[in-house]
This record gives sequence, C-alpha cells and structure tokens, in this order.
Amino acid sequence: MDRIRITGGNRLNGTIPISGAKNAALPLMIASLLTEQTLTLENLPNLADVALLKRILGNHGVDYTVSGKRAGVVRQAGETVGLTARAIVDTTAPYDLVSRMRASFWVLGPLVARMGEARVSLPGGCAIGTRPVDYFLLAMEALGADIQLDSGYVVAAAPRGLRGNRIAFPGVSVGATHTALMAASLARGETLIENAAREPEVVDLANCLIKMGARIEGAGTTQISIQGVDRLNGAIHSVLPDRIETGTYAMAVAATGGDVLLSGAQPDLLQSAFDVITSAGAEVEQTNEGIRVRRNGAALAPVDVETAPFPGFPTDLQAQLMALMTRADGVSHITETIFENRFMHVQELARLGADIQLDGQKATVTGVGTLKGAPVMATDLRASVSLIIAGLMAEGDTIVNRVYHLDRGFERLEQKLSACGAQIDRLSD
Ligand code: EPZ
Repeated sequence: MDRIRITGGNRLNGTIPISGAKNAALPLMIASLLTEQTLTLENLPNLADVALLKRILGNHGVDYTVSGKRAGVVRQAGETVGLTARAIVDTTAPYDLVSRMRASFWVLGPLVARMGEARVSLPGGCAIGTRPVDYFLLAMEALGADIQLDSGYVVAAAPRGLRGNRIAFPGVSVGATHTALMAASLARGETLIENAAREPEVVDLANCLIKMGARIEGAGTTQISIQGVDRLNGAIHSVLPDRIETGTYAMAVAATGGDVLLSGAQPDLLQSAFDVITSAGAEVEQTNEGIRVRRNGAALAPVDVETAPFPGFPTDLQAQLMALMTRADGVSHITETIFENRFMHVQELARLGADIQLDGQKATVTGVGTLKGAPVMATDLRASVSLIIAGLMAEGDTIVNRVYHLDRGFERLEQKLSACGAQIDRLSD
C-alpha cells in the first residue's frame, strides 16, 4: 500500500492549479443517466472516486469516452469525457459498488425518473458518521415512488412515472437535494424543494440540467422550483473548480508560510473559509488568474469556528483548519455540526505533538511551539489531507499511511505541493 513521506519545514512558493470539483463531478456524471444523448463533461478531475463512479455507471449501461487521450501522455489538466446512457441495461446498483462510495446511492433519483424503477443498495454508515438516507426516501415518496426496503436494498417503483410535488426536507442535505433535482426534472408537473442545500455543487448540477433542457429556478437558494419535462438532451458542461481543494492548499500556505497562486480558484465559492484564514493571519487576494495566498513570518492567530451548510464554514475543511490551528499562538475552538464522528484526525494529529481536547462535537486546540514528524494513519479523505498539512509544518519526517483515501479526492497532490517547494514523495511498496 502506498504511503506519503513529508519532510516538513519548507515554505510553499509558486502556483497550484485547482482541479475540477470532485463533489460536483460525481452528481454531474450521474445526471448522464437522465438522457439517451451524450453528456460531455469538461474539466473532470482524475480521481479514484471518479473512476469508481465510471464503473458503477457502466453497470447501468453508460458508455464512457475520453476525448483526446493519447497513450503515454500524462494529463496536466482536467479531462473531457462523454457519458452516453443510450439504454439503461440494469436498474440495480449492487452492494459491492454502492458500499464503496456513498454518492453512488444518488443514482436512485435518475433511474426511477427515467425507468420507473430502481433497486439501490443502502450505502451504510461510514467513518465520519451514520449518514442515513431518510431524506432521499422522503423525496422519492413525495414524487410518487413506492419505496420498499428489501434485504439491504431500497426498491423504488413508479411504473406510471414520477409526479411533481412539494418536498420539504427536515434538514439540509447535499445528496438528497441533488437526487430530488434530478428526479423532479423528469417528473410530471411542478416540484418545489424546500430547505434545499445551497452548496455551489448543487448550483453546478442545476446549471448542467438546465443546459440539458430542465426547467429549474432558485438553485443556490433554499427553495428550488422545477417544472418537469418529458425528456432531457445531451449538453456540454465544465465542472466547477474544487473549493475544498482550494481551501486545503490555502491552509497549507497559511501553515508553512510563503506565497502561492491557486490558479483557476473562485473566491465566491468559499468566502467563509477565506474569512477564517485571513483572521488566522494569512493574506488572501483575488487576481485575474485565481487566488493568491500569502503568509510571511507573522504568528498564526487562533480562531473560533463552527461548521455549517453553505455559505457557512464547510465540514470538508474542518480537519485541515484543525491541523493549521495546532500551531496557532493561543487556543482555538472548532465545532463540527454536520457529522457526528468527524474527528478521526485528532488522535493522529496528537502523534505529531498537537494538543487537542474533544468534548462531544467541540474541539479545543491549544497551539504548540513545534510539531514533530511521526508515522500517522489516514482515516478518511479530509482527515488524510489534514495530516499532510501537519506534516508540512512538522520537524522531520511524517509518513502518512493508507493514502488511498487521499487519492479519492486530491488530484496529483504530491506533484502540486512539491512544485511549490514541499519535500513530499510517494513510497510504493
Ligand atoms: C456531501 O455529502 C459531500 N459529498 C460531503 O463531502 C460533504 O461533507 C457533505 O455533503 C456536507 O457538505 C459529496 O458531495 C460527494 P449530506 P452528503 O447529505 O450529500 C444528514 C468529502 O469529504 N442526512 O449533505 O452525503 C447527514 O447524516 C465528502 O468530499 C440525514 O440525516 O452529505 C449529515 O448529518 C464527505 N438524512 C447531514 O444530513 C439523509 O437522508 C448532511 O449530509 C441525508 C443526510
């Protein structure tokens, strides 16, 4: 199994290109199930989760082509791919695939909308929390699907098609909003989604669906209205830049000091995170090419942050912020409000000498003068990258084990960081 070795202490200077967003790419790929025509996605990141979803969609009959791919050429920028679901050959999403990636459960909406049926394995819990699917079932039932649970599968049937309706979500869910948007686009009549997620990835999916012929208004607000259409077309859509990758590298620069241009990054996608990074003592500036992040010498100031749905501080940056605050000059408080068990990085950061006390969902981080490199274990995607940030600040060598978690969501991480002066390499056994 691959490991990553980091020798800490170097400042970061240079340019890091920001890739297409994993969490936009996945629902966009799934949207290809809604039409028999080709959905062309540009700027698709090269990630393990994208490769896995390609396999899952292939199982349903989606044909996948990569434009301009030449043997032996290592891609530097996002790929352009065509996804064509001319015919859906299987409406079952099996346990062995869905259990490996929760987002694959989202095929439920488009499969029922197009085929009138789906049998999708329950995704189960995962390292960061229980993550139930009740909002998805509520949405599909509101749209007229009959839902049964059978041997670990959600079996949904709407033989006469879905009907538009009011869907009032009890809490904010990104995945349930994606699913409802896709299903309602092909339902008869009007759907009103209340308490919709406002994440930029929801807006990106809605924009792509609109290009495909869907009639959607209000994406990016808590109320989305959808006027169902009989069929959707193919379209060409470019995946938006990854705001979590952007925030992660911004925190890495704040952590090590230096001056880095995050090229292609969009500040409006993560204003709350930039406010926090600025109050911690880094400078953040928008330029024509992206976002420039600098920190020169000044001590890091502690922060008090609670995660929240967009436009609040993202849970997907909580672990990275915690790594940064381990070296702050004072005591920070970081509260996780989205997932109940998203603190797996705490004990690993402690191996490097971090001082973090947990009380339920609240972490108290007392900054320390130095971190010392150590072997650590990656437990989930964002926890893994928080260990990379800590390793960049630590004295000596940090070895991050189980880096397959990182490969799910960070494209060419070692190359991007080493191009800016980090000492980081991958050890393959
Ligand atoms: C998306 O997950 C992201 N994944 C997550 O990123 C991200 O952490 C999360 O949104 C929150 O921003 C992708 O986009 C692929 P949710 P999702 O449904 O949609 C509860 C990463 O590291 N809930 O918005 O699965 C749920 O338990 C990943 O890239 C229910 O109670 O998250 C949680 O507490 C990890 N019932 C809250 O809602 C439901 O039916 C928000 O979860 C659904 C959700």
